[in-house]
Amino acid sequence: MKLTNYVDGKWQDAKNLQFTAVLNPATGKELAQVQLSGASDVDRAAKAAKAAQKTWAKVPAPKRASYLYEIGRIMKERKEHLAQVLTKEMGKVIEEGRGEVQEGIDMAFYMAGEGRRLFGETTPSELSDKFAMSVRAPIGVVGLITPWNFPVAIATWKSFPAIVAGNTFLWKPATETPMMAYEMSKIFAEAGLPDGVANIVFGTGSEVGTAMIEHPDIRVISFTGSTETGRKVAELGGRNLKKVSLEMGGKNAVIVMEDADLDLAVEGILWSAFGTAGQRCTACSRVIVHREAKEELQDRLLEKMKSLTIGDGTDESIKVGPVINKKALEKIHSYIDIGKQEGAVLLAGGEILTGGHYDKGNYYAPTLFTNVAASMRIAQEEIFGPVISIIEVDSFEAAIEVNNGVIYGLSSSIYTQDVNRAFKAQRDLDTGIVYINAGTTGAEIHLPFGGTKGTGNGHRDSGVAALDVFTEWKSVYVDFSGKLQRAQIDNEI
Ligand code: UN1
Repeated sequence: MKLTNYVDGKWQDAKNLQFTAVLNPATGKELAQVQLSGASDVDRAAKAAKAAQKTWAKVPAPKRASYLYEIGRIMKERKEHLAQVLTKEMGKVIEEGRGEVQEGIDMAFYMAGEGRRLFGETTPSELSDKFAMSVRAPIGVVGLITPWNFPVAIATWKSFPAIVAGNTFLWKPATETPMMAYEMSKIFAEAGLPDGVANIVFGTGSEVGTAMIEHPDIRVISFTGSTETGRKVAELGGRNLKKVSLEMGGKNAVIVMEDADLDLAVEGILWSAFGTAGQRCTACSRVIVHREAKEELQDRLLEKMKSLTIGDGTDESIKVGPVINKKALEKIHSYIDIGKQEGAVLLAGGEILTGGHYDKGNYYAPTLFTNVAASMRIAQEEIFGPVISIIEVDSFEAAIEVNNGVIYGLSSSIYTQDVNRAFKAQRDLDTGIVYINAGTTGAEIHLPFGGTKGTGNGHRDSGVAALDVFTEWKSVYVDFSGKLQRAQIDNEI
């Protein structure tokens, strides 16, 4: 199967016929060949998107939304197929694959509703017989750069608000997961989305991503990926005066206080740390535990980790799938020595799984470190794999301080039965998402998604907040007095 770009409503070859293989991380088998496009392909797509946007912006928003209802309906009808494709190319277990597709469906229906809202504001004017309001205006052509860990959900968080607001888009999916994007191109076409509204250009960040950021007709870049790449996107985007929305790394913690329901905490930690094999931006990679609960929590975690089944995620009985590729496997593994050298104690895992079908895929054993100091590299850097570190503290205040003492700020969580502590925590945890008595994952699409500090640059995906990325505020004054009225001068208040 050869995956070609989707531009102006047609699947077409990139200028240079270069391809790279898409591999199933569970088996190492080739699933497809994907095009590696270049700057001229980006230019072609941007031109198509620009031409289409003029007409699209004039389509009434509820009508634009009707295409989203149709996209959502087709996704729902095709949910199982999409989930299977997702699991094959990305590796997350099928139950999570279904969950991710559902997240995209939810986003379609939710954003379709925005077609009948897109609220602005009306305010009194300071002058008589004058009307004042603000409206959301589309920006034009927007560029979307999405990661492999959520190949469909994150794309919907960006593309659906973009189009309901009257923009057209050029989307560069990760080279590891182009099949989901290809499936979405078929759905866009079947839903009758006008040609040029949705465009997909496959290729690498350094070629296609750079060309998008430098392209004069692409006004917005919405990026999800590593902090390292995000910084480059922001630098290049800044030089080109682009509006750049970034959603980057995390080093998310679950805090377990001495009064916590420990069974609940253990379940939350396992789900947040080892779901998607730890490759969520929201994954829990630190457990900050009160001294009095540490031994008990540690024992229960170790016990429960034994029941985690690791393997090909298409098998319904598997709980932890493979990681994305060999490079990721090596990166994760390199942290084991780093942790040991810093004095952390390895309680479980810490190895690349081998033997039988493990040899063909990229499998890492769920890993638990204890006696970790908050300043150690394993407690500071994003590992993006199934590795957790237990950090002991002796007070609520210390737990908050440790949580906040990293460069990232995406998600955090606290397990406590004390309502006062819970409320203090939601105020003091310096992250874009906070959970009380739940793990660090599980964001819902109608709330803003994003983080503070090194995780973001002030923008948010999903929720109504996403509309702020893809619209420009326009203030409109209508003077019906029939005479010249000068603001700030003719109205002594
Ligand atoms: C991500 O990790 O990049 O909250 C997205 C969650 C999911 C989305 C995660 N709903 O974990």
